[in-house]
Amino acid sequence: MSTITLTIDDQVVEVEAGTTILEAARQAGVEIPTLCYHPDLSLHGSCRVCVVEDLSSHRLLASCAVPAGEGMKISTRSAKARKARKMNIELLLANHPADCLGCDRSGSCELQELTYNLGITRESVDRFAGERRSLPLDTQGAALKRDPNKCILCGRCVRVCEEIQGLGALEFSGRGFDSIVTTAFDLPQSEINCAKCGQCAAVCPVGAITEVSSIAKVWAALADPDKHVVVQTAPSIQVSIGDEFGLEPGAVITGKLIAALRRLGFHKVFSTEFSADLTILEEGNEFISRIKGNKNLPHITSCCPGWVKYAEQNYPDLLNHLSTAKSPQQMFSTIVKTYYAEQAEIAPENIFTVSIMPCTAKKFEAAREEHRDSGFQDTDAVLTTRELARMIKEAGIDFVNLPEDSYDQLMGETTGAATIFGTTGGVTEAALRTVKEVLTGEPLEKLNLGIMGVREAEVEITGRTYKVAVVSGLANAAQVLDQVRAGESEYDWIEVMACPHGCVGGGGQPIPTTLEVKKKRAQGLASIDQSNAIRKSHENPDVLRLYEQYLGEPLGGKSHHLLHTSYRVR
Ligand code: FES
Repeated sequence: MSTITLTIDDQVVEVEAGTTILEAARQAGVEIPTLCYHPDLSLHGSCRVCVVEDLSSHRLLASCAVPAGEGMKISTRSAKARKARKMNIELLLANHPADCLGCDRSGSCELQELTYNLGITRESVDRFAGERRSLPLDTQGAALKRDPNKCILCGRCVRVCEEIQGLGALEFSGRGFDSIVTTAFDLPQSEINCAKCGQCAAVCPVGAITEVSSIAKVWAALADPDKHVVVQTAPSIQVSIGDEFGLEPGAVITGKLIAALRRLGFHKVFSTEFSADLTILEEGNEFISRIKGNKNLPHITSCCPGWVKYAEQNYPDLLNHLSTAKSPQQMFSTIVKTYYAEQAEIAPENIFTVSIMPCTAKKFEAAREEHRDSGFQDTDAVLTTRELARMIKEAGIDFVNLPEDSYDQLMGETTGAATIFGTTGGVTEAALRTVKEVLTGEPLEKLNLGIMGVREAEVEITGRTYKVAVVSGLANAAQVLDQVRAGESEYDWIEVMACPHGCVGGGGQPIPTTLEVKKKRAQGLASIDQSNAIRKSHENPDVLRLYEQYLGEPLGGKSHHLLHTSYRVR
């Protein structure tokens, strides 16, 4: 490894050749502000907020884009660098609504933070006052909304959609003052080839793309004396919401999460893990029957709604490969308004179902016309992790010091298999734990799939070797799906998650969600799995009772009506 030695703010720093000045500074513990830079995306180098001064030439360099050079002497805080950096932010603010009070990202906005940190004042911005953009808002979708007036043209959303998701649903248009980020043909985002995964919102440094908020709707239901409000929490929330309250990423806070939901006034608090296990029983049996009939293989999972919408738009010819089992969110809500309503003797029209999800596409999924099998809209409201954190803060709940609480009975039992749904590979491992044991009576060996890119594994069951693929990020998924389309795939089972690394990296998770943070969340889920006495879906006592008392058997008539769905070409 060849190295380079340079000086940054009088510190001698030795780094690997090819390291940028920004990376070199960070390795030396020197923080340089950035805006268009994102560690998971390609370089853009447009905002010039990261400028530093080269003390030999006195030139300003964009530190995120310029490699460190041998013998360089860099100042990150010279008067020249600070003045330029500040002016670049002032110019952005001069064409920005600056309505921080009403912005969803107030408190987590990178522009707001930089404005404060760089000592920018109203007067310093007003010297650049001039014409401002006044663009229409894009607010018709069920999952995401856009305010192009807040956009600072950093291009992070454009890059994540193109590079990680392979969709290119957003693009730059216009020149100079008229430059904007928009959709193809300027169509509303509800009408374009968008998966609703929310990765654009997750990387946006400001409030230009955010989830459609369901907070007011949930507060209204909680305040309605005629409503019985039931909440479900997705597996990954218990290792991610703590970030919003300053806890260590990946910290397991299940008990505090339940306690917070009770204090908010939810009448019953259940876990989506109950219905993740139910999904495994339905989907596992569906897989077995496809194998036996040699039909619709490879079997492709369908619990990620971003992936399902992407498939409906981009791989309509492969829809018969998707499992017809509903996602855990939708199974849960349907069962609440049927089985639970019957057991609790509450009229389903008086039940309001809320789900806490790491995901923006779950909002789109809940609104789909197909999801009314209970006779009502099955899921009434979806809150992202971020939205729930906002409600907890608004209610003045001291989250960190809450006592531990536990899920309600009837649909509150969880298994290790269901917990790992929250990370890429989890659905596959959970399904194979059940499929192998049901078919052979022997337990599955640990798959050890990791969380990166496209992964493969082989599992032997009753003398046959099954080849499985696990993929996250839609650009990665496209590689595998193109093989299936071309008839070149050798897989029996393919798991697809739209968001990179699965739900731990979902578009509704706390911002920022870096690779390091995602790894810690995945470790948190693995630790819950390992410490649970029940680690297989087919051993969940609440699920077994549900079949015994209400559904009959997996893939039976009632199960098929309530727990399975269909897809459509978009
Ligand atoms: Fe370096 Fe934007 S962060 S140019």
